[in-house]
Amino acid sequence: EKAKPLKIMISGAPASGKGTQCELITQKYGLVHISAGDLLRAEIASGSENGRLAKEFMEKGQLVPDEIVVMMVKDRLSQKDSEQTGWLLDGYPRSSSQGKALKGFGFQPDLFIVLEVPENILIERVVGRRLDPVTGKIYHMKYSPPETEEIAARLTQRFDDTEEKAKLRLKTHNQNVTDVLSMYDDITIKIEGNRSKDQVFAQIDTALSELLQQRNTAPSSL
Ligand code: AP5
Repeated sequence: EKAKPLKIMISGAPASGKGTQCELITQKYGLVHISAGDLLRAEIASGSENGRLAKEFMEKGQLVPDEIVVMMVKDRLSQKDSEQTGWLLDGYPRSSSQGKALKGFGFQPDLFIVLEVPENILIERVVGRRLDPVTGKIYHMKYSPPETEEIAARLTQRFDDTEEKAKLRLKTHNQNVTDVLSMYDDITIKIEGNRSKDQVFAQIDTALSELLQQRNTAPSSL
C-alpha cells in the first residue's frame, strides 16, 4: 500500500528563508518544489508576453495579476511528478483570491508553514543574497558564503534584490498577509525563522515527521 503524498505550503515575508528551507525539505522529503517566483522568472527568461508583463509588476514589488499566476501554478501542480511525489508550494497563495482559486481546483495542503522573521533582519538578507545559476543554490555573502572561488565568481543577483525594491515587496506582503493566514488557520504552523538555517529546518523537520507519523497511525490511512 502506498502512502498518500505530502502537500505542503510555505509562506513568509521576502527573504524570510522560504527558498533556503525548500532546498532542505526537498532533500529529505523528496517533494516537488514549486516556487511561484521561480516560475515567473522562468517565464521572463523565456521571452514570452506574460513574462514581459510579469516583470513590470515584479520590478515594483507588486503581485503579478492572477490571470498570469494562477494557471501557471495550477498547471505545475497538475503535472504527474507533483501528484505522485507530493508537492511543496512556495510563495503561493499571496492573496485570498489565489487561495480560493486553488481550492476551487481541488488543491488542499496538509500543512501551511509560516516563517516568522523580524523586519529589520529581512533587508540585510535580501541585499546579501546571491544565486548560483549552475546549481540554482541560494547563497548569502555573510550567512551562507560560496564554498569555492569558482562558485563565487559565477554568482548572480536578482533584479529585485535592492533595498528599495525589497521594501516595496515587504509592503505588498504586509498588505496581504492577514488575508492569506486566515485561510489556513487550522493547518498552520509558525516557525521561528530568525535562527540559523539548520535550526530553522530542525523545527520544520519535527513538524513534518509528526505529520507523517500521525498519518501512519490514523485509522483513516488503513
Ligand atoms: P519571490 O521570488 O517569491 O520572492 P520573495 O517572496 O520576495 O521571497 P524571496 O525569494 O526574496 O525570499 P525567500 O523567502 O525565498 O528567502 P531565501 O531563502 O532566498 O517573488 C518575487 C516576486 O514575484 C514578488 O515580489 C511578486 O512580484 C512575484 N510573485 C511571486 N509569487 C507571486 C504570487 N503568488 N502572486 C503574484 N506575484 C507573485 O533567503 C534570503 C537570503 O537570506 C539568502 O541569501 C539566504 O542565504 C539567507 N538566509 C536564508 N535563511 C537564513 C537564515 N536562517 N539565517 C541567515 N541567512 C539566511
